[in-house]
Amino acid sequence: MTIDYSEKIPNNVDLAHDRTLQRALEHWQPHFLQWWHEMGPSDFEKADVYLRTATSVDAQGWATYGAVKMPEYRWGIFLADQQPGRTIGFGDRMGEPVWQQVPGEHRSTLRRLIVTQGDTEPASVEQQRLLGHLCPSLYDLRNLFQINVEEGRHLWAMVYLLHAYFGRDGREEAEELLARHSGDADKPRILTTFNEPISDWLSLYCFTYFTDRDGKYQLKSFAESAFDPLSRTCRFMLTEEAHHMFVGETGIGRVVKRTLEVMKELGTDDPAKIRAHGAVDLPLLQKYLNFWCSSSLDLFGSEISSNAATSFANGLKGRPDESQYEDHVLRDVVLKLDTPEGTQDVPMLNALNEVMRESYLKDCEIGLKRWNRAIERAGHAFRLTLPSSRFRRSIGSWVGLPVDPQGKLLPKDEYERRLYEWIPSPEDRAFVKSLMQKVVSPGKMAAWIAPPDRGINNLPVEYEYVHLA
Ligand SMILES: [Fe+2]
Ligand SMILES: [Fe+2]
Repeated sequence: MTIDYSEKIPNNVDLAHDRTLQRALEHWQPHFLQWWHEMGPSDFEKADVYLRTATSVDAQGWATYGAVKMPEYRWGIFLADQQPGRTIGFGDRMGEPVWQQVPGEHRSTLRRLIVTQGDTEPASVEQQRLLGHLCPSLYDLRNLFQINVEEGRHLWAMVYLLHAYFGRDGREEAEELLARHSGDADKPRILTTFNEPISDWLSLYCFTYFTDRDGKYQLKSFAESAFDPLSRTCRFMLTEEAHHMFVGETGIGRVVKRTLEVMKELGTDDPAKIRAHGAVDLPLLQKYLNFWCSSSLDLFGSEISSNAATSFANGLKGRPDESQYEDHVLRDVVLKLDTPEGTQDVPMLNALNEVMRESYLKDCEIGLKRWNRAIERAGHAFRLTLPSSRFRRSIGSWVGLPVDPQGKLLPKDEYERRLYEWIPSPEDRAFVKSLMQKVVSPGKMAAWIAPPDRGINNLPVEYEYVHLA
C-alpha cells in the first residue's frame, strides 16, 4: 500500500477510515512535536538537512531525498505489506493463523514489550541531543539528524500500535513515552544503556554500532511475532535501522583509518604521541568498544529467563531469523550454559536471551574483522576485540563479578584497580571530548577521522548536507 502524504499524519494504514484512532493520534502529534522541540537536536531547527523520507515500504526505492527542516519532517505510520495466509512460525501454536488483534491473555505482556521497545527510540534522540555542536563534518551531522528523525519515527511506529490495539492503557503509555527522559533522576528511560550520556562522536559511533544492533535483533525477533501488526511494523523499521548501523561501522572504520595514517606519519604506535597529534590511539578505541559492547549486551536480559520462554512459547517473540532453525517449538532441547558455578544444562526455551546474545555477538564480529584487516594491512600487530560477555554484566548469572574483558575471574581489588585499563577513564573521556571541535565547512573533516569513501545518495562527500541557517 502506498503512503498517503496528503494526510496530517502520513500513513499506509488507511487512517482516514478510522476516525477515532485518527483523532487520538492527531491529539498525540503536537505532544510529540513539542517533545522534539525540547528534547530533540538542540539549535538546528532552522537548518536545511538533506534527509531521506519513506515513500513506500518495499525494499526497492523506498525513500526520497531532499532538504528538510527537521521540525517539518513528515513522521508517519508505515507498516510492511501484509503477507496473505501468514501463520505463526514458532512456539506452541505454530501453524495457526497469525493474529490481527491482541488476544486478551497476552495483552499485558505485549504492551510491556512494545512500551520497552518504544522507550528506546526517543531515548536515543535525547542522548544525542547536543552532539550536533561537536560534529566532525557536515556529512556526519546529516547522518546524526537522519538517525534522530528516524528514531522519532520508530516512536511513532510503537505509539501507533499502542493507540490502535491497547485502548486507554495504550494511550496512557504513549503519553508516558514522552514523559520519561534519558538520564532523568526522577523519570529515567526504562533501560540503563539508554540513560548513558553520549557526549562525543566516538561514543555515537559505538552506540550506533552496538546499541542500534541490539535494536536490530529485538526488531528481528518481533518481526517473527504472531501479532501481525507488530511484525509488519518492525519489518519496515529494520529497513530504516540498517543505515544507523552503517553510520557506526563506517564511523569507527574512519577513525581507525585516520589513526593508521597518523601512526604512519609519526612512525610510532605510542598512544601519547598519537594523542598529542590529535588522533584516537587504538587502545583507547578498544576501551570504547569494551564499554559500549558490554553495556549493550545487558539489553538482551538474563541468560536464564522464564519471560523469554513464555514469550516464545506463546508466539509473541521469536528468534531473529526464526526460519533458519529446524526446531521451532524447543520443548525437548537443552543448552549448555557457562555460569560462575560451572556448566549448566538449561532448557533451551529458558535460554533464548543467550541464544540471541550469541548471534548478536557474531554479527558484531563482522565490523571488527574489517577494521582489523585495515590494521593488519598497515603492518601493525594490534587487533581490536570484543569483550567477553561475562565482562561488566549488570544482569544475569555473571552480574557484578570481577571479570576481565577476556572473561577471566579476578580478585575484586585487582579488578577495581585495573578497570580503567579496559573502559574509558575520566581522563580518556576528557581527551576524546577535547578532540570534538565542530567542523562545518563542506567537505572538511575533523583531524581525528578520515573522510567517508562516498557521500549520501551518490552525492559527493563535499556536498553541503546541512545548510546552517
Ligand atoms: Fe530505532
Ligand atoms: Fe536506530
